[in-house]
Amino acid sequence: MQFSSLLFVQLPAFLSNLTNPSGPTPIVASSPSIVTSSASTMAAEAPKVAVAPLEKYMLPPLPYKYHELEPYISEQIMKLHHDKHHRAYVDKLNAAMEAHVKALAVSDVKAQIELQQAIKFNGGGHINHALFWPSLCPPGLLASEPNSAPLLIEALTAQFGSFDAFKERFKVLLLALQGSGWGWLVKTQRNVLELRTTKDQDPVTDDVSVILGIDMWEHAYYLQYWNDKASYVDGIWNIINWELLEARYDGTAAPTAL
Ligand SMILES: [Fe+2]
Repeated sequence: MQFSSLLFVQLPAFLSNLTNPSGPTPIVASSPSIVTSSASTMAAEAPKVAVAPLEKYMLPPLPYKYHELEPYISEQIMKLHHDKHHRAYVDKLNAAMEAHVKALAVSDVKAQIELQQAIKFNGGGHINHALFWPSLCPPGLLASEPNSAPLLIEALTAQFGSFDAFKERFKVLLLALQGSGWGWLVKTQRNVLELRTTKDQDPVTDDVSVILGIDMWEHAYYLQYWNDKASYVDGIWNIINWELLEARYDGTAAPTAL
């Protein structure tokens, strides 16, 4: 779901919490479409509409134990990356969204504008990491074998010449990324596979299916690989969850929980 959609889906719920201190049970609110010449009569005459309860964004649990991606990603990195970095994105996203709803409620446009960057950065950080964790799996599992994704590997081979050529093209792209960002394998609506990058925590927002995103922030590798980004990228191919990537490619994967 597009993040902007999430905002508007959850907006009534935020408002329900602001106006109903007893909890997130559905409440009624005045319809903004009813306009009369008297504010006092409007409140009395306006029809009531039910709104949905608020749900905050949550840190998803890892689908494996912290140490299970070793030797390719250390337990220490995984603990910091998931429990500290991802959690910070979630917490700051929830705070920004709550502040944004309050700003909307009082038509404070300046405050709404000021919050956009925080929503984009932390919302993107949450979305990107929620996609990233299940894209990995412990080495040695059947899911970590590329032959667990026969349709995807066939498409990659057809498009890039060979599986190795795909990995090399992706690696070149990842290593060329300046500063922090993400590398992506996506499938377009025309079933074309594309490689791309985004800066910082910008998520993929256009109408494509994300097959794989690789975190190229220093927090993802520096404690183990220092400045050797190439070895981080080479190693990560041993812990890719090809089974999930195949499901994302053929459209059978469950939507990523946010
Ligand atoms: Fe990260």
